[in-house]
Amino acid sequence: MPLTRLTYWSTRRIPPQDGFKAIKQILQASIRNNARDGVTGYMVFDDRVFAQILEGEEAVVARTYARIGADPRHGDLILLDRTTEPRRAFPNWAMGATLWLDDLKEVMARQGMSSLEPDRLGPRGVLAVALALHAREVARQPGLRPSA
Ligand SMILES: Cc1cc2nc3c(=O)[nH]c(=O)nc-3n(C[C@H](O)[C@H](O)[C@H](O)COP(=O)(O)O)c2cc1C
Repeated sequence: MPLTRLTYWSTRRIPPQDGFKAIKQILQASIRNNARDGVTGYMVFDDRVFAQILEGEEAVVARTYARIGADPRHGDLILLDRTTEPRRAFPNWAMGATLWLDDLKEVMARQGMSSLEPDRLGPRGVLAVALALHAREVARQPGLRPSA
């Protein structure tokens, strides 16, 4: 069955004081639903934007993206890319994310940017940033298996 990889970014609409709790809720629901649906991926975010990679069966990814798009915790979704891929970039992650903003800053600095700018990064840049953050996350938690 062909594998779809969808990459989008969006503008965060979560009030700053609710930040951590809201992100935790989003990740909990994502991991629960995506594990059930065979979806994997990674979410990169800061205090302004989200960028997310969704991988899975085409119709399932489309359905997941439609559900995410209706979520008032973000808006102005921009689809960066939707491709058919031979394999998953994040096979072991129903939805990975890093809560370490220092890691994000460092990884972005290596891309020559001072903050997360998904429109400038484009889909390849978003994937590179997600893989770099994921590698740091795996290094920090030796029990986890690296992806890909
Ligand atoms: C930036 C962002 C990313 C999200 N990613 C996912 C996701 O990957 N999978 C998912 O099921 N829900 C995701 N959600 C949450 C959905 O919008 C929705 O709240 C959830 O799927 C509803 O699940 P439930 O009916 O099980 O509560 C995301 C929400 C936001 C704001």
